[in-house]
Amino acid sequence: MFSPFYTHLILIVSCVVFIFSYFSYIKRIQTYQQSLQLTSKLLTSTSNDFQNQFSSINLTTKSITDTTDEKLLREKILGSSDINHSMLSRFKFINPPKPVCNYPKYTQQFMIIVVLSRGINFDYRQVIRATWGRNGKYKNYNIFIQTIFFVGTDDTVQLAVRNEQAMFNDVVEMNIPENYPFVAHKELASLLWTRYYCPLARIIFRADDDILLDTFLLLNYIQHTLNLDAKDGLHGWFRFNNTVHRADKWAVTKLEYQPKIYPPYTFGISYLFSNVSCQRLINAANHPNHQIIRIGDAYITGILRDLANIPFYDFENLQYAYTFYTEIPCDNYFETKSDLLLCMSKLHIGQRGDPYEFYDIWEIILAKHNRSMLNI
Ligand SMILES: *[C@@H]1O[C@H](CO)[C@@H](O)[C@H](O)[C@H]1NC(C)=O
Ligand SMILES: *[C@@H]1O[C@H](CO)[C@@H](O)[C@H](O)[C@H]1NC(C)=O
Ligand SMILES: *[C@@H]1O[C@H](CO)[C@@H](O)[C@H](O)[C@H]1NC(C)=O
Ligand SMILES: *[C@@H]1O[C@H](CO)[C@@H](O)[C@H](O)[C@H]1NC(C)=O
Ligand SMILES: *[C@@H]1O[C@H](CO)[C@@H](O)[C@H](O)[C@H]1NC(C)=O
Repeated sequence: MFSPFYTHLILIVSCVVFIFSYFSYIKRIQTYQQSLQLTSKLLTSTSNDFQNQFSSINLTTKSITDTTDEKLLREKILGSSDINHSMLSRFKFINPPKPVCNYPKYTQQFMIIVVLSRGINFDYRQVIRATWGRNGKYKNYNIFIQTIFFVGTDDTVQLAVRNEQAMFNDVVEMNIPENYPFVAHKELASLLWTRYYCPLARIIFRADDDILLDTFLLLNYIQHTLNLDAKDGLHGWFRFNNTVHRADKWAVTKLEYQPKIYPPYTFGISYLFSNVSCQRLINAANHPNHQIIRIGDAYITGILRDLANIPFYDFENLQYAYTFYTEIPCDNYFETKSDLLLCMSKLHIGQRGDPYEFYDIWEIILAKHNRSMLNI
């Protein structure tokens, strides 16, 4: 059909096309690999690069890597079990620039409020600082309060969180994802942090960033009712015979936790304990095969507390209230119940309301105790 001349021409052209596509293919693979390397470099870029890029913020990033400091702390608090890599030895903390825990003169009257928060809840942390989580000593009480916020890792807000750390020096970032299944890990890590960085704070109050707290009632309770030396355990609102859910949002498999019933446990949003109990909880979790279940409160105040053999006590004459199953808002509860320690806002079930309601309710709480913003 074709003359030998055309056959040769077609052969030569196909060779050229083949060679061209071969080289462009190779080139594309190389470009792809380069971009992969670039991406992974960006992803693994050390905190130093970060600091160089944003040098004006002056971040403290030393705890992101294994510095001698944290290694020493780990040896002191976790002991030699560290070599077996318990979950605890994997928790890392990114602290604000200056030390967070400022001991007052009498550490036995020092209470830290450990608030588990989410990176994105900047507005809630800000109103808490100005209301129930205010740092310092309140008039007529000899207890010094310091509030510390714990957030997980969330790339989308990390830079803003670092700014906040530099500004307020009260936010600790932990290398734990900001997802519901990791709340128990976050809670355990925050307890470990207090052992590392604030071990002498005698009283620890655990709270969430979505509650409203009558700080004066809490101080009254600590000053007049609580006796940690005689009753060194977990203080909260304990519930009994709660069944282990196997197939819903709160599901825990038999592999994770075999029994059908949880040990008595209290709400994760508010319980009170001593630094000594905190160390005992940490010791109980410090084993290579220790199983953390994802139900934060059942795990820490039930299973781990039981494992550590720590007694539990109910808050005497203190109440709590939810607002998410009823239409009664927190302000009504605070106005009408004299012994209401805390109220859970709708944020607790993920309904973002207006954090400014915290100010209104704080006014109510102040008035209840004959105080004002200027007279705290
Ligand atoms: C940043 O930190 C360095 C070293 O600690 C210090 O010398 C410098 O004054 C700090 N800069 C600011 C803006 O705080
Ligand atoms: C570490 O693990 C080994 C083997 O499981 C065990 O024999 C040893 O007691 C563990 N050490 C500590 C300190 O837990
Ligand atoms: C707990 O705090 C008290 C008071 O500051 C301190 O004397 C004690 O050593 C602390 N205990 C532990 C285990 O850290
Ligand atoms: C929990 O269950 C046990 C065994 O069924 C029972 O003896 C106990 O009274 C229950 N406790 C409460 C507070 O209901
Ligand atoms: C506040 O003041 C009123 C009137 O002086 C008094 O009846 C009330 O007991 C006071 N409340 C508190 C908590 O001190």
